[in-house]
Amino acid sequence: MPELATVRTVRELRAAVAGMRLTGDRIGLIPTMGALHEAHMALVAEARRYADRVVVTIFVNPTQFGPDEDFSSYPRREARDIETLHAHGVDLLFAPGLKEMYPDGFETIVNVPEISRGLCGDHRPGHFAGVATIVTKLLLQALPDVALFGEKDYQQLQLIRRLAHDLDVPVEIIGLPTVRETDGLAVSSRNAHLSAAGRAAAPQMFAALNMVADRLRDGEVADTACAAGHAMLAAAGFAPIEYLEVRAAETLAPADQAPGGTPLRVLAAAWLGETRLIDNIPIH
Ligand code: PAF
Repeated sequence: MPELATVRTVRELRAAVAGMRLTGDRIGLIPTMGALHEAHMALVAEARRYADRVVVTIFVNPTQFGPDEDFSSYPRREARDIETLHAHGVDLLFAPGLKEMYPDGFETIVNVPEISRGLCGDHRPGHFAGVATIVTKLLLQALPDVALFGEKDYQQLQLIRRLAHDLDVPVEIIGLPTVRETDGLAVSSRNAHLSAAGRAAAPQMFAALNMVADRLRDGEVADTACAAGHAMLAAAGFAPIEYLEVRAAETLAPADQAPGGTPLRVLAAAWLGETRLIDNIPIH
């Protein structure tokens, strides 16, 4: 197999994508921050169902990290990531530097205020404006036919759907169900930071979400079901619990403000030691 083609400037990216389009190929884009794992590779596999060529981006985006968050320690393993992408037959990697994405004088911010409110938005001020800005740039730079994101970051996924729709970006946004370990823990690069005891307790988040979903299906009101979910997380050692809430699946409006029959989602974020875990499931 020839080496994975890697480009670092928007100009090169556009030229490479234009070359792919000459043969009529459909383009699938997978934006990432690197430190690639099996959930990213599930996105690559899914992309092949929608596109002839798969383009992956790696950029650790500083504007989506708060001042006390892990931007400087976020894992950067480009050589290993390139091997992984190559082994999975990815067609093109776009790995720009900081100045390429945020040149001197950059000041435009994309804000999606309603979907950014609450849940992770309350605990990570500015995070979603950073995500919205960089994803808008990546979509406009590559102009793919489809772009794929994991449902684990569900608020992020809904925000990206909203911005693509509102800004008429000609792309289909695909959400992929969360990839899980055999014990239910959502696959995440942050799982590696869990202690042995934390790793043993971590699947209780998925269990608590399922318990809340079961109770709702049995007709319990959201507040009571979520209180039981909170208690289960606390008993497993999660502290602090940032949120465990039921929301409308599309708009993320609080469940009690959603008309009857609206598809719902239960979402949680909580800490085990120094590690912040998030997860969510649909309530069918
Ligand atoms: O989910 C991520 O890895 C990032 O938030 C994204 C979408 C690549 C934007 O930086």
